[in-house]
Formats: sequence, structure tokens, C-alpha cells
Amino acid sequence: MNSSGIILITGGAGFIGSALTRYIIAQTAHSVVVVDNLSYAANLDSLASVAHSNRYSFEEADICDSEAMDRILNKYRPIGIIHLAAESHVDRSIDGPKAFIETNIVGTFSLLQATLKFWSSALNASEKNQFRFHHVSTDEVYGSLGPTGKFSEKTAYDPRSPYSASKAASDHLVHAWHHTYGLPIVSTNCSNNYGPHQFPEKLIPLICLNALAGKNLPVYGTGANIRDWLYVDDHAEALYLVFSRGRNGESYNIGGEAERTNLQVVERICDFVDEFVSADKRKGKSRDLISFVADRPGHDQRYAIDATKIRQELGWQPRFTFEDALKNTIRWYIDNPAWWQKILDKTYRGERLGLSNVVVNA
Ligand code: NAD
Ligand code: DAU
Repeated sequence: MNSSGIILITGGAGFIGSALTRYIIAQTAHSVVVVDNLSYAANLDSLASVAHSNRYSFEEADICDSEAMDRILNKYRPIGIIHLAAESHVDRSIDGPKAFIETNIVGTFSLLQATLKFWSSALNASEKNQFRFHHVSTDEVYGSLGPTGKFSEKTAYDPRSPYSASKAASDHLVHAWHHTYGLPIVSTNCSNNYGPHQFPEKLIPLICLNALAGKNLPVYGTGANIRDWLYVDDHAEALYLVFSRGRNGESYNIGGEAERTNLQVVERICDFVDEFVSADKRKGKSRDLISFVADRPGHDQRYAIDATKIRQELGWQPRFTFEDALKNTIRWYIDNPAWWQKILDKTYRGERLGLSNVVVNA
């Protein structure tokens, strides 16, 4: 692979895409062009640390807009694409699945078509051979586990929410474009990520900000559902490794080996908030704010990843422990209200999340 070529990252203004962009600019000689339509989930502040790099560019565009994608591909001539742009929140997909069909399925289709055109007509033989389309997907495509077992790359797809169904469809499209048209691809399926810069509709930042505000901490059902948590910087490292060294046409599972019930996660967040915020600046113990609420429809019980393949083929394993990285994450939210206050001030979301009046006294 050309070690200083341009990598195009879709969804690079989102949570994982911005971590990946920061990682590539800091750790490699590549340039990055971020393509993002700046949806509600995007935040350019997450890219502030790379914004002045001469190896970073930004293009505001929708992946469904094939003319824009043609223009951007021919302008930058990337050595590959890491495709993260997506609607990513399960609860939103239940409330309104249309956007998930449009971006995750139709958008991936449009991007594949534009990429195939660029790959087949604009590149020489060596460039074509080295090019990679890396599709970033989720463990949710495999469905829901009982108390034992883990998802491997051979597990049959069984998506159960509009979000996971749309991601499963996009995975199939990407592999079909490889088998039918010869487009060089890799794909990855990862477990739940957490870390700084995550939009506060997802469990960990939502619970953290609610605890800081002394508001109820909504736990769906009994809190017994299990997720396998991975720190976002570990995911970024794995993504770059698969993009640069993964075998053409293969998929790789990525996971944190950190299974926790939702209640365990919420209780740890409470403990860290109480450790970091002095008692006179909060309303009692954060654990007392835990509130069991109506369950998510179709709520998957358990996810767990078998990451043997990426470990054996590419030597990847998580660097961060859940305890340490969760603690750092809670510290980051406490220290960076400027990042999330702007989001909460957009009351159309804040009201829905019950977060509009969050004030941090730490
Ligand atoms: P996110 O919602 O934080 O970010 C998604 C980004 O995509 C946003 O910046 C948004 O503006 C952009 N985007 C959305 N629609 C677009 C469109 N039509 N055109 C251009 N840009 C568009 O999501 P995330 O949590 O960073 O997830 C990124 C990817 O990783 C997604 O594909 C998701 O399915 C996958 N994934 C996420 C997790 C997780 O735990 N968050 C785990 C595994 C896989
Ligand atoms: O597994 C990977 C997936 O992880 C990604 O593909 C998705 O993009 C990402 O959003 C995430 O999906 P989840 O649905 O697992 O994440 P979320 O943070 O929404 O919820 C985590 C768990 O916590 C889930 O079991 C639902 C529960 N939950 C969530 C919220 C927002 C609560 O109990 N209360 C809440 O308020």
C-alpha cells in the first residue's frame, strides 16, 4: 500500500470517524479527506485537533449524492475509502426507519457505484490492485445471543432492528460488489464503542450527562442486557490495520472482550461521577438516580465478539481496559462541557433526551 496516499473517510465528523481521522493524521503519513453531510450526529469540534494539518481536508457532501461523490473521488484520487457514514442509533431507527434505509442502504449503494466507476476507469493497474473499499459495520447484524457463545465471522446474519437490518443490507451490497464486479473490499463488524466525542443519545454519554445534571438515569427493562464494550481508539487502530493489511474480500470482527450488563455500566458511571464531582455539587448519590424504564422494542439480549481472526492474522488486540478507559471517558465529559453543551442547546434533541438544562458544576 502507498503509505502516504490519501484516504477518504465517510462519516468522519461523527464519533468513530473523527477518532479514526485523528488516529491516521497522528500515527501515519497518510492524508485524509473527510466526507460528511454534517447531520445532527456530526460535530466538527471533534476534528479541531487536525483541522490545521496540511494532510487534512473536509468535504461537506451526502453519500447519496453520486455526482458529489464522483467529483470528490476524481479531485482527491484516494488510495482507498473507509466508509463509516451511517445513521447509527437503534432507538432512532425504531422511531423513524426511513433515514436508515436512505443513508445506510441507498447511500452505501450510491457510494459503491461511484467508487466502482472511479476504480475501474480512473486508476492504473497497480493503483487498482492496491485500492481498498473498507466498509465499517456492526456486530448487531448477527442478532442476539443467549447466555453463552460469541459472534464469529461465520455466524449467520440475523438482524432484528431497522438499524441492524439496514447495516446487514449494506454489508451484503459491499460483498456483492466485490464478488460481482471485482471491487477490492474489506469489511469489519465491531461491538459497542465508547469514548470522548460520542453523541449523548448513546448509553454512556447519556448516563454521564444526566448524572452530572442530577436527572434520572433511564435503564431499559431490567438492565440485564449485555454489550461487549470497546474503547474508540482501539477501534480506530483496528480499522487502520484492517484497511492497510486485511485480506481482499474478507470480513473481520472487532470486540473489546469487556462484556457488561447495562446496569453494571450505569453503576460504574455513577461511581466515577461521584468520585470526580464533590458531594456539595451534586444531588446525593448518582446511583439513587437509576430509573428502570420501558424496554426498547425488540431489544437484543446479548452481544459478544470472537476476535480471534483479527488477533491471529493482524496481531490486533485492545490496549485499553474497560475500567481505565471508562474512567477517562467520564473525566473527558466533565472536562469538556463546551463540546456537548452546544448539542444540548439544540432543544429539539435536548427535549427528547431530557438533557436541555444540563449544567455541570464539577
Ligand atoms: P455517528 O452517528 O456518531 O456518526 C455518523 C456520521 O456519519 C456523522 O458525522 C453523520 O453526519 C455522517 N452521515 C450520516 N449520514 C450521512 C450521509 N448520508 N452522508 C454523509 N455523511 C453522513 O456514528 P458512529 O457511532 O461514529 O458510527 C460510525 C460507523 O460505525 C457507523 O457505520 C456505525 O454503523 C458503525 N459502528 C458503530 C458502533 C458504535 O458503537 N458507535 C459500533 C460498530 C459499528
Ligand atoms: O453493537 C454495536 C452498536 O452499538 C452500534 O452498531 C450502534 O451504532 C451503537 O449505537 C450501539 O448500539 P446499542 O443500541 O447497543 O447502543 P446504545 O448506546 O443505544 O445502547 C446500549 C445499551 O443500553 C442497549 O442495550 C440499550 C441500553 N440503553 C440505551 C439508552 C440510550 C438503556 O438502557 N438506556 C438508554 O437510555
